[in-house]
Amino acid sequence: MILVTGSNGQIGVDLLQALADRYGGMHIVAADLEGSNSRTPPDVRFEPLDVRSVDRVEELLTTNPIDTIYHLAGILSASGEQNPDLCWDVNIGGLRNVLRAANERSLRVFWPSSIAVFGPHTVREEAPQSARTDPDTIYGITKATGERLCRYYASHHALDVRSIRFPGVISYSAPPGGGTTDFAVEMFFGAIKDGAYDCFVSADTRLPMMYMPDAVKSVLDLMGADSDALSVRTSYNVAAFSFSAGELAEAIQKYVPDFTCTFHPDFRQEIADTWPGSIDDSVARADWNWIPEFDLDRMVRDMLTHIGQSLGVPVDISKVE
Ligand code: NAD
Ligand code: SER
Repeated sequence: MILVTGSNGQIGVDLLQALADRYGGMHIVAADLEGSNSRTPPDVRFEPLDVRSVDRVEELLTTNPIDTIYHLAGILSASGEQNPDLCWDVNIGGLRNVLRAANERSLRVFWPSSIAVFGPHTVREEAPQSARTDPDTIYGITKATGERLCRYYASHHALDVRSIRFPGVISYSAPPGGGTTDFAVEMFFGAIKDGAYDCFVSADTRLPMMYMPDAVKSVLDLMGADSDALSVRTSYNVAAFSFSAGELAEAIQKYVPDFTCTFHPDFRQEIADTWPGSIDDSVARADWNWIPEFDLDRMVRDMLTHIGQSLGVPVDISKVE
């Protein structure tokens, strides 16, 4: 049986659906602070969980025959910077509770890290797998610490814990939850609903990004890989494409020609400025055959199609101005 923490979040909603499609909803327990929502797949049981409570984590694992945990519960970069203590308690306290309980029961664990582990002194382009991690945000510090905690449990206790350093993840099913890369999702909704969006980072801010179907695929591929093939037990770089905020606006304008985007950077600009513009994922490609399927234009067309449908404002993606 599978436990997914943070199941109501941006990644949780789509990963839960993919796991339910693959393994059947009755084999999955979804857990988050708040109750289940309309996106929880049928047959998936919901359990309230605050990952900071070691007793509640223990209770869930004692009362359910869980063998694998997808531990997604977390506080993202922008929210983290506004509440550093909460970010530490959830991201590190929660991870420690999950790893300790998983270790006692020899469970498998997936945990997402982030490009936020890199810092202002990391090489800006094609940041290598082995690049020094010297994050400058509390979120990045929790992710870099979490990566070392995962490797500690893997090397000292042979715990099968696997991790991916996600770029900014773009999706339409559930709203992003307080990250610096949220602009890349909000821009689509602004373009279709209002024909306009005021972006909170500058037009030339370039970051690594990935479309949700590839993010989900990366998790399933990594969790399906042969353990002996995995040379990284901190966290794997995975990449898909990079773009600046201005380039994304132009890519959307190809299909929504009247869309106007303005740029007024706020505190999130400083966070974005510490992250690399692209990362090198050659180790993930070599170890477990990672390969993304979506490029920028294909992602843009898919996002516009789905968001247009859900808002009742269809976008004609065959028309390119
Ligand atoms: P999200 O904010 O959309 O969802 C996180 C979920 O965690 C929320 O549903 C929230 O209710 C839950 N949560 C928060 N505190 C909790 C607690 N104390 N106990 C239990 N649940 C709690 O985030 P997401 O985008 O789905 O991210 C999931 C994971 O992936 C996080 O660890 C995040 O750092 C990581 N990640 C996300 C991205 C991205 O672009 N979305 C990129 C890199 C890494
Ligand atoms: N998308 C995430 C954020 O912006 C990166 O981990 O916080």
